[in-house]
Amino acid sequence: MSDAREILSAKRREALAGGGEKRIAAQHAKGKLTARERIDLLLDEGSFCEIGALVMHRSADFGMDKQKIAGDGVVTGYGTVHGRLIYVFSQDFTVFGGSLSETHAEKICKVMDMAMENGAPLIGLNDSGGARIQEGVVSLGGYADIFYRNVMASGVVPQISAIMGPCAGGAVYSPALTDFIFMVENTSYMFVTGPNVVKTVTNEDVSSEDLGGASVHGSKSGVAHFTSANEMECILHIKKLLSYLPQNCEGRPVSLPVEGSHELRDVLKNIVPENANQPYDMHEVIEGVVDEDSFFEVHKNFAENIIVGFARLGGRSIGIVANQPAHLAGVLDVHSSQKGARFVRFCDAFNIPLLVFEDVPGFLPGTDQEWNAIITNGAKLLYAFSEATVPRITVITRKAYGGAYDVMNSKHIGADMNFAWPGAEIAVMGAKGAAEIIFKRDIDAASDSEQALKEKEMEYAGIFANPYRAAERGFVDEVIFPEETRQRLIQAFGMLENKVRNLPRKKHGNIPL
Ligand code: HXC
Repeated sequence: MSDAREILSAKRREALAGGGEKRIAAQHAKGKLTARERIDLLLDEGSFCEIGALVMHRSADFGMDKQKIAGDGVVTGYGTVHGRLIYVFSQDFTVFGGSLSETHAEKICKVMDMAMENGAPLIGLNDSGGARIQEGVVSLGGYADIFYRNVMASGVVPQISAIMGPCAGGAVYSPALTDFIFMVENTSYMFVTGPNVVKTVTNEDVSSEDLGGASVHGSKSGVAHFTSANEMECILHIKKLLSYLPQNCEGRPVSLPVEGSHELRDVLKNIVPENANQPYDMHEVIEGVVDEDSFFEVHKNFAENIIVGFARLGGRSIGIVANQPAHLAGVLDVHSSQKGARFVRFCDAFNIPLLVFEDVPGFLPGTDQEWNAIITNGAKLLYAFSEATVPRITVITRKAYGGAYDVMNSKHIGADMNFAWPGAEIAVMGAKGAAEIIFKRDIDAASDSEQALKEKEMEYAGIFANPYRAAERGFVDEVIFPEETRQRLIQAFGMLENKVRNLPRKKHGNIPL
């Protein structure tokens, strides 16, 4: 009996040491925390309960039977963040490069199943060289078991991935199936194949950083939703993100008490310039409307012509989608449509009401956009909004032109309320472009065609460059002053709190992927 106790405590000590002092030092030397340190930072103090600390791999090939380390390169379990249950796995790069063996996969699958069955978020802290090469097909099978669960859990519980080291091969596909990916600058990489394989296949010379570093995935590919300067900041951001989310698709996000929620916000009066062609920063509008310091931006450096993120309004969690006139005039293009659509679908899946700020001159024209399927990609955003059944409100701050008017959460595609500021322009296109087309003959025939164009432009603008035509039809519910926006939105979201809208019966729709 006492022998068994000794063996158990020795094994437990070994497991809890996370692979020994040397390995810990090696991890620290790379500017990285250990798998256990990451968990300690993430969870409420003393709340972590480990599962499977003594699990070891079963492989014997290549001398692996002589190299067994308790835990097999991944720490798994559950605990709380802000007092709410979460499940977590944290890969240990110091053990076989955090590579995924059959048993390593089984441990991850166990917490995934529990997260689903108990309705709590799953956080994966990834630091892995991919499939354990010594194990061959069983490690590939292990990955597939995880991928399958990622898909089954999608839309059931929030799934969050942090990339905290060089993740290759299968180690990037599981995160890609989750809701949000966090990366750490200079210490984390994501690639399907690393620089050496790239060199062999394409003869390209590329560094890990340029191939799949945080800045590349945070700005060019959009694979990463958040990038952080270091691991501590990354974990703080994960905790912040969780604060806006419900535990699962049946729940609602926690509301926080807020003081003076119905005040007028004079700061909103002067943000939109009088000249319709002058840019302004839509962040100022967002910050001006939502609860103080509550805006948490997602995909900050990717497709900056659209802004998406979480915020609180009168204490309630909301998702914001906003055109950004300060970047490419706020046009919709391939990347911004994808970015917006994915965010809308996440919010809808987890009962987070949607608020849209609209100032959009249309879709970006050109061969680059057409050849990269702006038709299919723009349709994603249209589809995502149309399908969303959560409370949905739009505020048109300035331009709502063309197809983009329809797409950006118009009432025609199921928005509950549309407000417009007095300077809003709701038209098929800008007045100049419209006048050039429909008055072409008159302008060509005029003795002073420049003057004629100006007059026709004014005539068109007089009729359509305002929100009142749309309001007459009920496409806009109310024209409101900018400073009242917060007040009106809090009232309207309160009114919509118990909204129920059911979609037609179907197996699933066919979003244009
Ligand atoms: C077994 C591995 C391993 C792996 C790393 N190690 N990757 N062991 N299986 N996949 C071990 C190394 O042998 C080494 O052991 C230790 O981990 C640290 O690795 P280093 O190479 O020294 O670290 P670093 O220089 O930081 O490079 C990290 C790396 C590199 C970029 C991740 O190790 C690498 O390229 N690994 C292989 C990546 C890969 O091709 N994986 C398989 C992908 S296929 P020692 O004992 O020396 O400390 C795949 C299939 C699934 O995943 C596909 C599903 C769609």
